[in-house]
Amino acid sequence: MMMRIAVAISGRGSNLEALLRVLVPGAPAEIVLVLSDRAEAAGLSLAQARQIPTVVLAEPQDGELWLSHLRAHAVDLLVLAGYVKLVPASVIETYQGKVINIHPALLPAFGGKGMYGRRVHQAVLASGARESGASVHLVDERYDQGPVLAQARVPVLAGDTPERLAERVLEVEHRLLPAVVLAAARAGRPVPLPDVVESSS
Ligand code: GRF
Repeated sequence: MMMRIAVAISGRGSNLEALLRVLVPGAPAEIVLVLSDRAEAAGLSLAQARQIPTVVLAEPQDGELWLSHLRAHAVDLLVLAGYVKLVPASVIETYQGKVINIHPALLPAFGGKGMYGRRVHQAVLASGARESGASVHLVDERYDQGPVLAQARVPVLAGDTPERLAERVLEVEHRLLPAVVLAAARAGRPVPLPDVVESSS
């Protein structure tokens, strides 16, 4: 059975683009809906260019609004890819174990409310950590707390700035998220994957 996926974004959409590159005809999953809490989210145009329905959520905290769209498109899996708000509890309950999120750090460290974008990488550098990376986890009612399914690790290099580290992490994000989504499509639900470790070269 083809897994029907909805992707929620708030901004640029490079993780959405990485998914679109992999979920081509013949893949076991298809993106059938893209949702955003911001009309100006640049990633919406990626979906519109491929005639994938898009929705801008006027009230992102309204669970019934989410559910009406997810049901209308018979969505099986909800993927948060740069979506910065909490997903309403009623959506989490209805899609128990079928909502995943990508975060640009090695959770449980450097996660939580307000920990997104440049702030994450700044905190990693300030901590003196020798490695960072990305995590895909199941989503519950709290920010970045649900069980981790897969991680990709990258080295923190001397002279790294938050921007340079963010770039190195984003590169592995674009491989990690599609890998988790494809494994979920084959298994019928999100499943854990072995960690990926990037070399320092
Ligand atoms: C990514 O780094 C993701 O891990 C985080 O938000 C960023 C979104 O980037 N949650 P993009 O919009 O997918 O380019």
